[in-house]
Amino acid sequence: MGKEVGATGFFAPDGDFVKQSLLQRKHEFQYDLLGWFRAHARNLPWRRTPSAYRTVVSEFMLQQTQVKTVLPYFDRWVARWPDFAALAAASEDEVLRAWEGLGYYSRARRLHQLARELAPRPILPRTCAEWQTLPGIGPYTAAAISSIAGGEPAAVVDGNVVRILARLTADATAFRDSVSAARAFAPLAAELLNPQNPGDHNQAMMELGATVCHRRKPLCTVCPVRRHCAAARAGDPEAYPRLAPKVIESKTVTRLWCERDGALLLHRAAPGATRLAGLHELPAAADLALDEITLAAAPVLAVKKRSITRFAITETIRRLTLPPAHPLSDSLHWVPWPELPRLTLSGPHRRWINELRASTVTSTIS
Ligand code: ADE
Repeated sequence: MGKEVGATGFFAPDGDFVKQSLLQRKHEFQYDLLGWFRAHARNLPWRRTPSAYRTVVSEFMLQQTQVKTVLPYFDRWVARWPDFAALAAASEDEVLRAWEGLGYYSRARRLHQLARELAPRPILPRTCAEWQTLPGIGPYTAAAISSIAGGEPAAVVDGNVVRILARLTADATAFRDSVSAARAFAPLAAELLNPQNPGDHNQAMMELGATVCHRRKPLCTVCPVRRHCAAARAGDPEAYPRLAPKVIESKTVTRLWCERDGALLLHRAAPGATRLAGLHELPAAADLALDEITLAAAPVLAVKKRSITRFAITETIRRLTLPPAHPLSDSLHWVPWPELPRLTLSGPHRRWINELRASTVTSTIS
């Protein structure tokens, strides 16, 4: 009896009932989703001539980064390194320089290592499980690559997919974070996957999340799967998913602008450092062991704000003339201006330096 009730869903608890009725009509759902994707998908370069390499590069670039930011990087990247072998032959410095501005540089290093791992192999991995054995490839990326490039039946579950599934089922579970939400929705994502077209199905879910099922003000009136959506029926899609708010930590950093004899002082993180290895930045005050009085007397050139993962960072850049005898650690370098274009700078530092250089040159002239 119990089993029968569960199978038909009639007397099951609300959430299960909604889920069961969605699954009972999963072919209609897949059909609506795929039809919409085929008609409305954005014409993105990695979709035009798909290959395992192009899918891998695009998936690495798209982690934590929006499509519009990735587009110029992707085109330049595949023109310069068209396959795993070409990328494997590049130096790490070249790879990091080409990645500059995309952020989260460990992705570039992992992509480069992956190319070096795959280039000598006669055949590439195929299944999601095989891709996941490779360094730097997690469940989401493995599912995306194996389904898009190899037609393997593996469902992707990222923030977009969680949002869509939570709304389709009006699932009011309160999740601690996005990782636990993704884990909870993985079985439903797998059951809804279209086994005939897993790559397009996954990309359609990503596309729906990015262009229709927005976090705020979702475009329910034009949604292709609206007839399957419990939250749209109830008129409260923005209530889902229920995720605990991210705890944001504030950080302040003082950075220094030190110029001498046509050179700028930069800090280079050690090649083996866990963060920013090999990348250059304006030095933080802490890198120079300065006393508070000297620091407070240094004029402020700019105050910059940015967010990285869960940190809201305020960086105050102060101009300082260093006494010639001031001791410098091995990680600090005087970089002559003409050499700057060849170095890789982390995050927004090149933009800041260009802005400040323009304004400091102007203010010196005027
Ligand atoms: N985000 C992650 N992977 C993507 C893809 N293949 N297309 C569009 N957006 C994405």
